[in-house]
Amino acid sequence: MRIAIINGPNLNLLGKRETDIYGNIPFEKYLEELKQKFTGHSITYFQSNIEGELVDELQRVGFDYDGVIINPGAYTHTSVAIGDAIAAIKAPVVEVHISNVHAREEFRKLSHVSGKAV
Ligand code: DQA
Repeated sequence: MRIAIINGPNLNLLGKRETDIYGNIPFEKYLEELKQKFTGHSITYFQSNIEGELVDELQRVGFDYDGVIINPGAYTHTSVAIGDAIAAIKAPVVEVHISNVHAREEFRKLSHVSGKAV
C-alpha cells in the first residue's frame, strides 16, 4: 500500500515543542520506526507550516495513494480549505492528533477535518 503521512504547522518542532504535551521524540525518529515496522508498504512524509502547501500535497497524493494520515495541527480548527481538499480526493484520510483535543481549550474542539475523514 502507498500511504502518505502529512503533518501541518509546528509539527516540525516535535521533540522540542511543548514537550509536556507533545512528547520529546522528533517525528523523523518515529517515521524511521514506522518504515522499519511496515516494510511491505511505501510510506511518504510531507510537513508544511503553510496551509496552501498542505492542500497541494493532499491533491497530489489524493488520487494515487491508498490512504492518507494527516495531523493538520492548528489548521484542524480553522481550515475550510483543508477540509474541502479531503472531501475532494479519492484516498481515505485518517485524522490524527498527538494530544486529546477534546480535553483542551474550547477552540480545539472544532475540526474542519473530522467530518470528511474516515
Ligand atoms: C495537534 C492539536 C492542535 O490543536 C494543535 O494546534 C497542534 C497539534 C495535536 O497533534 O495534538 O498543533 O494537532
